[in-house]
Amino acid sequence: MKIKILTLFPDMFMPVLGASIAGRAIENGILAIEPVNIRDYTLDKHRRCDDTPYGGGAGMVMTPQPLIDCLRAQTQGFPARRILLSPRGATLTQQRARELAKEENLLFLCGHYEGVDQRVIDAYIDEEISIGDYVLTGGELAAMVVIDCLIRHIPGVLGSGESAGEESFSDGLLEYPHYTRPAVYEGMEVPEVLRSGHDANIRKWRRERSLDITRERRPELLETAPLSQEDRIYLGWEAPKPKRRRRTKETKA
Ligand code: ADE
Repeated sequence: MKIKILTLFPDMFMPVLGASIAGRAIENGILAIEPVNIRDYTLDKHRRCDDTPYGGGAGMVMTPQPLIDCLRAQTQGFPARRILLSPRGATLTQQRARELAKEENLLFLCGHYEGVDQRVIDAYIDEEISIGDYVLTGGELAAMVVIDCLIRHIPGVLGSGESAGEESFSDGLLEYPHYTRPAVYEGMEVPEVLRSGHDANIRKWRRERSLDITRERRPELLETAPLSQEDRIYLGWEAPKPKRRRRTKETKA
């Protein structure tokens, strides 16, 4: 996958995305990231990229000329889905990240100041993404969050021990708790069942803890998560199946 990031702060990206898992994906050639400085496209003699809002109000608005020239130049020969990071966008989900991971090319536009001139959005942006209901000073950190989240779903980016399969949201629930050695640390014990080696019991324990944590912290997730009959019984949403009684001599009679 190739990702271009149009930004007023191109130096912010590689210290973060050049490290860790993204950095390894870049080294392995699975991922290419190119920050592009929007300011390089301004025709303003003071290199300005913003102006006061029509209609008045606080703050500045990113002006169309540098953005549109930058977008045109950067999409020449680079057919990419164009995403604006904005608090007005649809909130990022694991599901959306998984879908974006299938794209060959992506282009992120990082908004700044009070926002981006709406004409740029109307004419050039395919989708707006927010990373949550709060306002950042710019879209750069949001772009890094989206990128970090989606590249985990590109085949080959995670190593074999780093699966994106069983984790929070992968099955619509929050994940169960994890433990590693030692079995007892400062008097705190790892649950016995995890040390038992009994696979079915471990699976059951993990599923139930997942359901507990989700019910406690994000109960609304339970409304859309795919739940088995066993899950529904555990949650008390369905009555347990009556145990089949073995037929005895008396009941047969
Ligand atoms: N820019 C400013 N705030 C943002 C947010 N919450 N998500 C995405 N981009 C933003």
